[in-house]
Amino acid sequence: MELVAVVTGAARGIGREVAVRLRDAGYRVVAADISPAVGELAESGHMVPVVADVTADDAPAAVIGRAVGEFGRLDVLVNNAARFLRRPLLDTGDDDFDLLFGTNVRSVFRLTRAALPHLIASGGCIVNTASISGLVGIANQSVYAMTKGAIVQLTRQLAIECAARGVRVNAVAPGAVDTEFMAEARAADPDPAASLAVTLGNHPIGRMSTAAEVARAVVFLAAPESAGITGTILSVDGGYVAR
Ligand SMILES: NC(=O)c1ccc[n+]([C@@H]2O[C@H](COP(=O)([O-])OP(=O)(O)OC[C@H]3O[C@@H](n4cnc5c(N)ncnc54)[C@H](O)[C@@H]3O)[C@@H](O)[C@H]2O)c1
Repeated sequence: MELVAVVTGAARGIGREVAVRLRDAGYRVVAADISPAVGELAESGHMVPVVADVTADDAPAAVIGRAVGEFGRLDVLVNNAARFLRRPLLDTGDDDFDLLFGTNVRSVFRLTRAALPHLIASGGCIVNTASISGLVGIANQSVYAMTKGAIVQLTRQLAIECAARGVRVNAVAPGAVDTEFMAEARAADPDPAASLAVTLGNHPIGRMSTAAEVARAVVFLAAPESAGITGTILSVDGGYVAR
């Protein structure tokens, strides 16, 4: 029996690493992203790239429906697609709020709701990508942090709601990860070099994590080896929240 996974935000960064690693572990993977670059993953029938905006009305049908339609089942949902915003609250508009909550929270709610009946049928699991921003206060990230706090709480809530139905729900909470996402955020800072120094100084291991390190944690939480783990927020943050 081949297990089937859906990974959102799979065109680059953490999501791409997760999709490739799940495929290498033997899963059939539906890799969804708003960016057509996700098509680069279409190297075999084991990986099905889907260009989809997770905020679109038809996203659950396009993404979850594709997995079930193509492979007949769903075992793992990795809710990873998200937008970042580093901006003081006073400079944050209603449109910023709506864009971040639409992408980082509402889409996760809708994809999860569509996936759950299939995960209940398969005894599957969900792994959400949260963030240290959902666990501790970090200046100038109010709306992004609110969205990740929502993901942390959804993870705990749903883990309890679904435990008796055999579905596990966990999350990873990365610290700064060396991806394009971080590079873009830093480039928008007035002093990118100073911003990098502050970031590194806040991480006791003295460096950012890699996307591969986060992806390994996601694959672990998705795998049967973690059958006893649900409702956990696994920090992959070089010691950030331990300080
Ligand atoms: N990089 C970090 O430092 C860091 C730290 C903590 C948490 N995270 C979280 O990790 C996850 C992945 O981050 P990353 O660093 O790989 O980011 P990234 O920007 O490199 O990748 C995110 C992907 O999501 C896709 N995406 C964005 N909006 C979408 C939409 N509406 N529909 C479909 N796809 C969409 C993007 O096209 C992109 O491919 C995110 O949830 C992010 O919040 C990242």
